[in-house]
Amino acid sequence: MENSKFATKIGVVMAAAGSAVGLGNIWRFPYLTGENGGGAFLLVYIVCVLLVGLPVMLSEFVIGRRSGKNALGAMRALSGSRRWNWLGWSCVACSVLILAFYVVVTGWCIRHLLLSLFGVAPPDMVNTLIALAVNAAVLWMGVQKGIERMSRWLMPLLLVLLLLLVLRSLTLPGSMDGLRFLFRPVWSKITGDVWLSALSQAFFSLSIGLGCMLTYAAYMRKNQNMPRTALQVAGIDTLVAIVAGVAVFPAVFSFGFSPAEGPQLVFSVLPSVFAAMPWGGVFAVCFFFLLLIAAITSSVSIQEIAVAYLGEQHGVSRGRALVVTTAVTVVLAVACSLSLDGVFQIAGRSLFDWFDFLTSKFLMPLGGMGFVLFLGWFYPSEGSCEELQQGSRLPHWLFLCWLWAIRIPVPIAILIIFLHGLGMV
Ligand code: PHE
Repeated sequence: MENSKFATKIGVVMAAAGSAVGLGNIWRFPYLTGENGGGAFLLVYIVCVLLVGLPVMLSEFVIGRRSGKNALGAMRALSGSRRWNWLGWSCVACSVLILAFYVVVTGWCIRHLLLSLFGVAPPDMVNTLIALAVNAAVLWMGVQKGIERMSRWLMPLLLVLLLLLVLRSLTLPGSMDGLRFLFRPVWSKITGDVWLSALSQAFFSLSIGLGCMLTYAAYMRKNQNMPRTALQVAGIDTLVAIVAGVAVFPAVFSFGFSPAEGPQLVFSVLPSVFAAMPWGGVFAVCFFFLLLIAAITSSVSIQEIAVAYLGEQHGVSRGRALVVTTAVTVVLAVACSLSLDGVFQIAGRSLFDWFDFLTSKFLMPLGGMGFVLFLGWFYPSEGSCEELQQGSRLPHWLFLCWLWAIRIPVPIAILIIFLHGLGMV
């Protein structure tokens, strides 16, 4: 990204929300909710967003704007040593792995868009490559022109379309079963695995734990109210996920799909909803187009982490950094895409599954833990207090609550969920 600041305050919120709102909300949230028992998962997810997600996002904002740098540069500048380099590298590695499977799912959106437009689509590997090319092109255009302009107008439209889908879904016969599934928690279904999946989804969906919000915050103006921005971004993100759930589950039950169908859930259910709508074909085209835009505003933020790192730490020009990161991702993404057809399986899991597992259940929580521990225990609290209060009138007691949260409960919660998920406690 050029070293320019976002032109408007609302521009930052939209760009950060553009990063957060994406396939995570509309593809990943419904399928994980379906696999993890419905209402129980939703409840645990909301707890994870409020108690872990928000404090971690705010920590990334503080580190990013305070340093004005990429993930690795920020840790080096604020710590004054190389001891935190591991955190920066883990962020960059995590971003590359996420991008590799994210563009595969973006490719599925392209497939459905082309299918609803022309009735035919190329094989998935080609769609994946198209997704990567679009991504690199948007990044090449730079922060304000590319990202801000795109997310500002099209994301509210996506929400409107989702609401129309909700209307159709709720008027299908038997739709109430879906609502019950989504909103009525069955307590016995809250297990360690559900906590781990919900925590991983909170990290994935809020784009935290890999220096993405940190990198955006580096471009924030000092008069931006960071606590309010974090609340707005997390609020919009959670709202979109729940609306997606309300659009999907009534239809799942009405059409007799299995809620635990897995990653293909949304892509098999929504076409049936469109088919049951007047002008369904037109809606399908608009929907998959907007979903594609939502995916791209997220994937550019993922690639930007590695691009900013190469540019700022190694003096690589923006064009070259884009070529290098795109080339690495092409190889990994093609392998990921092929792994779904049965090649590149490791220990019975596809590469796609491995990348998803490694990033959202391991690297992102680890990154989040690193950021909060650094601010909580190693960075002078006067510094973070000053940074947080610039642009906001955060009362001191609320600052102390946040500081206490990131010192003790947040890292402990991440650690326990993590160990529990791995079957260690
Ligand atoms: N939050 C994005 C989504 O929900 C994905 C993402 C993850 C973006 C990590 C940036 C960093 O689709």
